[in-house]
Amino acid sequence: MTNSDQLARLLHSDDAQLVAATEYVLSNPGKQIRSQLTRAAYSAVQADGTGSTGLTTVATAIEWLHSYSLVHDDLPAMDNDDLRRGKPTVHKAFDEATAILVGDGLQAAAFGAIASETTLSAEQRVRLIALIADAVGFGGMVGGQAMDMTAENQQVSLEALQQIHRQKTGALIRAAVLAGAICGQADDDSYARLQRFAEGIGLAFQIIDDVLDVTQSSSELGKTAGKDEAVNKSTYVSCLGLDAARTHAEDLLDQALSEIAPFHEQGARLASLATQIVRRLN
Ligand code: IPE
Ligand code: IPE
Ligand code: MG
Ligand code: MG
Ligand code: MG
Repeated sequence: MTNSDQLARLLHSDDAQLVAATEYVLSNPGKQIRSQLTRAAYSAVQADGTGSTGLTTVATAIEWLHSYSLVHDDLPAMDNDDLRRGKPTVHKAFDEATAILVGDGLQAAAFGAIASETTLSAEQRVRLIALIADAVGFGGMVGGQAMDMTAENQQVSLEALQQIHRQKTGALIRAAVLAGAICGQADDDSYARLQRFAEGIGLAFQIIDDVLDVTQSSSELGKTAGKDEAVNKSTYVSCLGLDAARTHAEDLLDQALSEIAPFHEQGARLASLATQIVRRLN
């Protein structure tokens, strides 16, 4: 079975509405920063070949997980958002049950895709699945999302907020980078460097998401602007103010770039993505 057939098989269902809603999500994929990080981390450690089949599968699986997280994040029981990537959210375009099931299905398909990717060794596949399961699970994204909900209408310390951001958003970004390192068979030193890099830009990613919620319009963001303040979310902006939040993200970027400096030219794509994460406008 070819790789794309295999991926299509994982998304197959006999329910027309579920298929339509899944296509609705995947045909409007957003910035795809996480899959680009996976590819760039691979290139940083592996000069030979820019895109093995296995790398494409892993990068795709990570985007599926990210998309699932957004579909559920937007649900009425969570952030209750109507707009995502410039279009009605899945529960608006379809219904809530469908949105829940699309997310559940994408999550399962992501792990299935990595498990069945025979161009990666069995050891690589198990490492990837363990890494990514940790990142999206109770100690990672899901736990972070729970803490984010609990922190609404609360005064939280900067340390607590940092932990929420590291888990709800940083963890998957960290896994995206390290997944590229595993596909590229990074040595221990490079892996540790990429880990420190990824932890910095993962936190910076959510700090800037908080900043953009305040500074940009809904049409620029493709999602409802001003939402965090409207529902009294705890964010870096509510905790530190706009300028200090931006400065903090810039400091994290500087540190992250110094971590990957030893990769020289091979790390250029990674450096440019890190810079995009902090300087982006949407
Ligand atoms: C938004 O992620 C949600 C967060 C984790 C902050 P992105 O800004 O990567 O969204 P898309 O994928 O480009 O739509
Ligand atoms: C989302 O954080 C984090 C995850 C989806 C895991 P936000 O709730 O701030 O993301 P947006 O602003 O809705 O994209
Ligand atoms: Mg949220
Ligand atoms: Mg949200
Ligand atoms: Mg946000």
